[in-house]
Amino acid sequence: MNKTAQEFVDKVKSRKAIIGIVGLGYVGLPLALRYAEEGYSVLGFDIDDTKVAKIKDGQSYIEHIPSTAISRAVKAGLFAATTDFSKISDADSVILCVPTPLNKYREPDLSYVLDTTDSCVPHMRKGQVLSLESTTYPGTTEEELLPRLEKRGLKVGEDVFLVFSPEREDPGNPNFSTKTIPKVVGGHTADCLEVGKALYSAVIDKVVPVSSTKAAEMTKLLENIHRAVNIGLVNEMKIVADKMGIDIHEVIDAAATKPFGFVAYKPGPGWGGHCIPIDPFYLTWKAREYGVHTRFIELCGEINTAMPGWVMKKIAKALNERQKSINGSKVLVLGISYKKNIDDMRESPSVMLMEKLRDDGALLDYSDNHVPVFPKMREHKFDLKSVPPTAENIAKYDCVVVATDHDDFDWDMIIKNAKLVIDTRGVYRGQFSNLVKA
Ligand SMILES: NC(=O)c1ccc[n+]([C@@H]2O[C@H](COP(=O)([O-])OP(=O)(O)OC[C@H]3O[C@@H](n4cnc5c(N)ncnc54)[C@H](O)[C@@H]3O)[C@@H](O)[C@H]2O)c1
Repeated sequence: MNKTAQEFVDKVKSRKAIIGIVGLGYVGLPLALRYAEEGYSVLGFDIDDTKVAKIKDGQSYIEHIPSTAISRAVKAGLFAATTDFSKISDADSVILCVPTPLNKYREPDLSYVLDTTDSCVPHMRKGQVLSLESTTYPGTTEEELLPRLEKRGLKVGEDVFLVFSPEREDPGNPNFSTKTIPKVVGGHTADCLEVGKALYSAVIDKVVPVSSTKAAEMTKLLENIHRAVNIGLVNEMKIVADKMGIDIHEVIDAAATKPFGFVAYKPGPGWGGHCIPIDPFYLTWKAREYGVHTRFIELCGEINTAMPGWVMKKIAKALNERQKSINGSKVLVLGISYKKNIDDMRESPSVMLMEKLRDDGALLDYSDNHVPVFPKMREHKFDLKSVPPTAENIAKYDCVVVATDHDDFDWDMIIKNAKLVIDTRGVYRGQFSNLVKA
């Protein structure tokens, strides 16, 4: 290991390293708190001054992160946040946790990663590590970050170190935390990898080194594509089972008793979240450069994005059987975040369903304790507040759609009081005269 790399490793081991984290969202904030918990000084950077102000006040802006965790770290003098990127030079690590969405052509939008890199690089200095955590296509770290560092006159692997380490998170899952989820790291050179391993093993129980930044980038994509494809498969199986009069959830539960070779995926009204509907298309785009077509990805995209439309057909048919149409019916959507027990609305299939219902003339409301007011979203607008899911309210609607199965819904009460329930999540087993499984 060269002297600069060794100095970095020693600094981390003695807890003297200052951890810079750029992008204090769902990924960056918990990571910052994890370092502070281990006694490291953390300097957080974001362009969003409301987030920075909230951190200064010890307030959380993410539902599953308690304000106490932030205020404790801030009061201990271990966590500060700023919008001033000139302070990048104060940090020893620069860990980038910024969004990687798709543009309107469903192609990778690297603008956040590139803008952040361009804000940081002018303030970088010898002895630092730059680590990208944002999910992206293989080659991003070497093709985009490396030349920017070298152009600045910093020799990667000698003066500064470059790694890619994908984030893994399962928001709302109490069985795993940042500390206990193994973390994959790839370095641009052998010393970059050693520096990356030291940086992350300081706060994470198991660090998994791979041979390159490309391999680390591809690892994250494989994990999420595996999920996306299997979600597509169970959604297709749901449609076939429905036609055959079979409950797909009963079948999945039975198949899951096989002690090997089967992984249970749950069908739903589509796919959602910032990762699963987005990340696979980073690979699709990059694969084209190599003349390869990623057919599984395209196919699962086709099936998963068609699911809200399939649910709509089931709603229309159920209302029709009751001499009603979607147009003019009062419809209550239960659960609007993309998955249960969290407040994250990104790419939520419930919202796709709400838009279709509104377009077809439904008089729409929603109920979700995790999302009291419909938030501002880039592509969706609803002027709605969550309706309390009381027996009295449930009984008022022509149709109640179970879109996201939060644990705090009283399912027995809902089926007892609703005129019609459309269950897209397999909450109800068995038959009820007012239940349609979709
Ligand atoms: N949320 C998850 O569960 C999850 C899991 C694994 C991987 N990821 C990946 O991690 C990355 C970050 O995702 P996230 O969910 O934390 O996003 P997020 O939107 O919650 O947070 C990103 C933060 O970056 C800030 N930001 C945007 N542009 C910036 C810039 N130029 N400089 C500094 N800050 C900037 C935003 O203000 C925001 O606070 C994405 O690539 C995502 O795919 C997310």
